[in-house]
Amino acid sequence: MRFGICYYPEHWPPERWEADAQLMQQAGITLIRVAEFAWSVIQPTADQYEWQWLDDVIALFGRYGIDTMIGTPTATPPIWLTRQHPDILHVDSNLQPREHGGRKHYCPNSPTYRAHSHTIVTKMVERYGQHPHVVGWQIDNEFGESNSARCYCTHCEAAFHQWLRERYSAIATLNEAWGAVFWSQTYSEWAQIPLPSDNNPRPNPSHKLDYYRFASDSFVSYQAEQIAILRTHAPHHVVTHNYMGLFPELDCFDLARPLDFAAWDNYPTGFPDQWRDMIDDTQANYAYDVGDPGVMGLAHALMYGLKQRPYWVMEQQCGHINWGKMNPRSRPGTPRLWTWHAVAEGADTIVYFRWRATVLAHENYHSGLLKQDGTPDVGYRDLLMLQQERALLDETAAQPNAAAVAILFSYDDLWAQELQPHRHDWHYLQAIYNWYDALRRQGINVHLVNDTADLAPYSTLIAPSAHIVTDPLVAKLTEYAQKGGTVILGVRSGFKTESNRVTERPLPGQLRDLVGATVVDWSPLPDNVTVTLSCNILSGTAGYWLEHLETETAEAVATTADGTVLTRNQVGDGQLFYVGWWPTSGQIQDLMAHLGVTSDVLLPAGVVHKRRGERSILLNFTDQVQVVHLGDRVVSIAPRDVAVVTR
Ligand code: GLA
Ligand code: ZN
Repeated sequence: MRFGICYYPEHWPPERWEADAQLMQQAGITLIRVAEFAWSVIQPTADQYEWQWLDDVIALFGRYGIDTMIGTPTATPPIWLTRQHPDILHVDSNLQPREHGGRKHYCPNSPTYRAHSHTIVTKMVERYGQHPHVVGWQIDNEFGESNSARCYCTHCEAAFHQWLRERYSAIATLNEAWGAVFWSQTYSEWAQIPLPSDNNPRPNPSHKLDYYRFASDSFVSYQAEQIAILRTHAPHHVVTHNYMGLFPELDCFDLARPLDFAAWDNYPTGFPDQWRDMIDDTQANYAYDVGDPGVMGLAHALMYGLKQRPYWVMEQQCGHINWGKMNPRSRPGTPRLWTWHAVAEGADTIVYFRWRATVLAHENYHSGLLKQDGTPDVGYRDLLMLQQERALLDETAAQPNAAAVAILFSYDDLWAQELQPHRHDWHYLQAIYNWYDALRRQGINVHLVNDTADLAPYSTLIAPSAHIVTDPLVAKLTEYAQKGGTVILGVRSGFKTESNRVTERPLPGQLRDLVGATVVDWSPLPDNVTVTLSCNILSGTAGYWLEHLETETAEAVATTADGTVLTRNQVGDGQLFYVGWWPTSGQIQDLMAHLGVTSDVLLPAGVVHKRRGERSILLNFTDQVQVVHLGDRVVSIAPRDVAVVTR
């Protein structure tokens, strides 16, 4: 594995760079990521390019054995570009264009922007594509960040029309797919179709889902343009992009497909705040400065599942940040814990953010490995500790990352349910998290995959809510079950067609043959309403959402006084379960135990277990000593410490 650092040499005088290189070398850093926001430094005016500083940086750090990963600087178009061509600006959902002075103020569908982006990326890779100390490229920075994933400008409107034409060919087909007859929405020309901005308080969910897909595809296509340039001029370099973990507005599977590997930015005290309303793990008693390893673990599982292979953490938090709710300082040992967590979950390169805390602008309250004064901070000292245990880290990163269970993740389902949650607090991500977390608490490895994944490695595939169903999905699930896999479907599965209409077939629509039963009624349940279950494999009550089924080929596994709520259907050598309520953690664990998916790990709350080959990695996210049972072994772990046990 490898350690790197996000470095902003343009923020400091060149006389300082060599001292930085020395300090990096002493801490085992062999990679800098540079230039992803340096467009105005490289191209201060339309016809002027300044390369010398970057040439010098790459050469100087190369002399210290430190390679360079270049970020294409397109996240920050310079002022000469935004002033000369305001049509490149991102337009918000309230139809207001962005102002210059932040970042991500561009539209990926602006032809002017694409032309300038093409030029700057080409110039950069022509210069550095064969450089002996440059190893790869990060495209742009965090697509969708600063609320920029969905743009409502006139270029997007035109591009959306083109996207719809390609999808539906005839306007009548679109009208049919969207149910446009409803409320007189019927269109007669592509050019009439609006973007679903905030000016429409009652949008058609079919229209809006297609717009979400289009917005995501816009970044896929913009990224593809950069990839093509980079691969042409730097065929031996790696190319990636830094995702934001569980960020819900862009389809990371689509974005990751053409990349060499996935990468993401891991901020444990920032991201969990964003999911607080759906995940509140107060019982775990996590230390105040570690964040929530359940949420971060889910993001890691997704990042691994994007390509079912090791990924990079392109920005690893290494101290306090400036954009969370509380932003506590990291105590010694916490950056080390996060690093071990990332490696345990499947990262094989850790690039910290950032080298030296800046004194400048928006992020001058953000920490780095060094303080603003240039001396080591907590993160740097933790990195020195990690270098002491480097052999163990390297060995761990090289172990297989196998999982018996995969969870099916679909951005289409996420978007469709966000548009129509039906009960106000329904979150697709929470449905995913509940299943993930029930397994995580038992120390069972889980990957998040989409419907293009290789499912052969998994004995069980859980789709907490396979809401929108397509022919390929049905074929995939059928083949998987027929070959011996177990599929578990949760509520609201099979409800929608690809264009977000409700299916006209009996529920669960196209999945009905596989399920071997019909969903005859469904309802959210108020929080104070639960229904008693009668079942041999799990106990308790059903709540949150309830569906009753009438069995055909399936057998009834759990019933309420009103009917069947859990079914099992034999499918070839495998089987399919339909769970007609929102199961608790304990119920999920009982069902999995019935399927033979168990572990011999007894984990106290607040401890994470990850199995890697013959190793068990145990991470204590609390401030107390914790005792873990691994089979008949008892392992005690100090507060915020890590134990690696060979089994
Ligand atoms: C994001 C960005 C970085 C920086 C950090 C701060 O992840 O990619 O440029 O702003 O957040 O935490
Ligand atoms: Zn736009």
